Formats: sequence, C-alpha cells, structure tokens
Amino acid sequence: MRCGRSLDKASSNMYLTHRWEAGTEKGLEAMSDEYLYSNTASVAKERLKGLERLEDSATIASLASLEIGPEWYCLELGAGAGSIAAWLSEQVGPAGRVVATDIDTDLLDASRYTVWRHDLQVDQLPVASFDLIHFRHVLIHIPAWKHASTLKSVLRTLKPNGVLLAEESDLHSWRVDPGTPEPLRTGCSDGIEAVLTAYAQRGMDTGLGQRLELMLRAEGFEISSVNRRSWHVTGGSLEARFHEQSMRQLAGSIRSSMPELVAGIEQLATACSDCRLRYDTRTTVSVTCRRSR
Ligand SMILES: C[S@@+](CC[C@H](N)C(=O)[O-])C[C@H]1O[C@@H](n2cnc3c(N)ncnc32)[C@H](O)[C@@H]1O
Repeated sequence: MRCGRSLDKASSNMYLTHRWEAGTEKGLEAMSDEYLYSNTASVAKERLKGLERLEDSATIASLASLEIGPEWYCLELGAGAGSIAAWLSEQVGPAGRVVATDIDTDLLDASRYTVWRHDLQVDQLPVASFDLIHFRHVLIHIPAWKHASTLKSVLRTLKPNGVLLAEESDLHSWRVDPGTPEPLRTGCSDGIEAVLTAYAQRGMDTGLGQRLELMLRAEGFEISSVNRRSWHVTGGSLEARFHEQSMRQLAGSIRSSMPELVAGIEQLATACSDCRLRYDTRTTVSVTCRRSR
C-alpha cells in the first residue's frame, strides 16, 4: 500500500557573502563531497525544510527560554536552510547580529542575517565573540575523532558566560514498531542497520546524542539543562517523507563507495510511503550550557 507524493525540484539560491579565513575552493569541494547530504542536491531544500518542520518548535522553545537580548551577537553553525538563523535575527533586532555558517551556503538568505561559508572541521572562528551559539545535527556529520577539537573551537568563540545550545542525535532509538507487518518490518529494520553501518564506516558517531552532555562537560562547558525528543512516525506522513528523502540522498551518496548497503537503504526509503509502517525516530538530545568566565 503506497501513500507517497511526488518530489518537487528544489530551487537553489546563491547568497555567498563571506568565507571566514578563506581556504582553497578545491579544499572546499573536497569537504562538500565528504558530506553525505549535500545542500546542492535537487531534493536538499525540501528535505531540510522537512527537518525544520520536525525540529524547530522544540529548538525555538529552548532558545526562547534563554531570553535573548536585543544586542546579542549570535552564531548558527551548519545552518542548513536557515530557519533558526532567521528566527534569531528577529529576536536580536537591528541592534544585534546573527551569523549563519555552513560548508554549503546555497540555501541561506543573506538579506536576513550574515552568511559565512565555513567548514567546522578546518576553518577558524573568531575568539570570544558570540553571546549565543546554536547547532543542530551538524557535529554528527563530522568524524568522531574531530569532535573534541571542534567543541574546543566552539567554546573559544563564545564570550565568557556566553550560551551554547547543542542538539545532536542518538540514532540507536530508531526502531521499527513491532506492530508493522512482515516482511515490511524486517526489511525496514535491515535498512536501518544499513544506515548505521554506512555512518559508522564514515567515522560518524551514531550514538553522539548519548555522549553529548559528557563531551561538553569534558571540554569545559557548564551544563544548564538536557532535553530529549523523538517521534513516533507513520509511513506516508510528512515526517516519513523527510526520512524517505534522506534515505534516497544517502543511497545516492554511497552508491560507489558502499554499494552493498544501497539496496537496503533504498528499500527503507520506499517503505517510508507505506501506510502500514510505524517507527520510532532517532532521539534528538538538546543540551544548554555556558562557557564559564
Ligand atoms: C542535517 S543538516 C542540519 C541543518 C540545520 N542545522 C537544521 O537542523 O535544520 C546538517 C548541516 O550541516 C552542514 N555541515 C555538514 N558538515 C559541515 C561542516 N564540516 N562544517 C559546517 N557545516 C557542515 C550541512 O551542509 C548541513 O547544512
């Protein structure tokens, strides 16, 4: 039984305004190639809008609790399609400033906030500059062995007493509901295993969300609060549509490097439009913390 809709072609905006401590374009291309869900892919805009639809209300509630001031200088790392950067710029008003960074800035809107093309793995950030930094589902795309140095660099760029809201996922809660009929259930479970294997082979930490609080503490952040959220999703829903697009993009990215995993991931993508499918998503772990003085 299928309940899918057809894909829209994503539009692409070119709003590159600034690259912090510019590296070579060749180096940038190589980095973009390494990211499995390139923002320039035709489906990227719709996929990232789907992610925002899923996550923004919780992120905005956490940010709103920080009572962002009108003169705050805010940094949105790996900003994707930019909804949180846009929200932040409304909060700080004309007296404040928001910078949105990404390795791939095509979907960001430089008329609403400052845009920097920036690779968290290699590029520097200005020291002790920001009142607030936010990132969501970005660190997980960087090899696990680089997480400590990346968090050190994020800590350095916060002002003393500045706030970080870090949101990353734990993929191990992603599970097909036992109520899903066979052979759909086993096929999807195998597909999820294939995704976790592909991520692990890329050096990604599929359990990053579980470790996030401890990692931040180890790098010297003072933890204020930790929240977790996940969703129960039905095939054919808008949420499942986001997962379908993600799986299609992933399958395309690993087709030549991990061909043995592609069929399982494509099968999972197809199943996302099947109304009989039920699953629990990954868990997003959201940590609010401060740089001590
Ligand atoms: C899953 S998307 C999340 C987008 C956005 N943070 C959100 O939650 O809506 C991951 C984003 O991180 C960006 N990204 C991946 N690797 C990066 C890196 N090394 N440096 C900076 N941004 C990166 C991608 O281009 C993409 O926009």
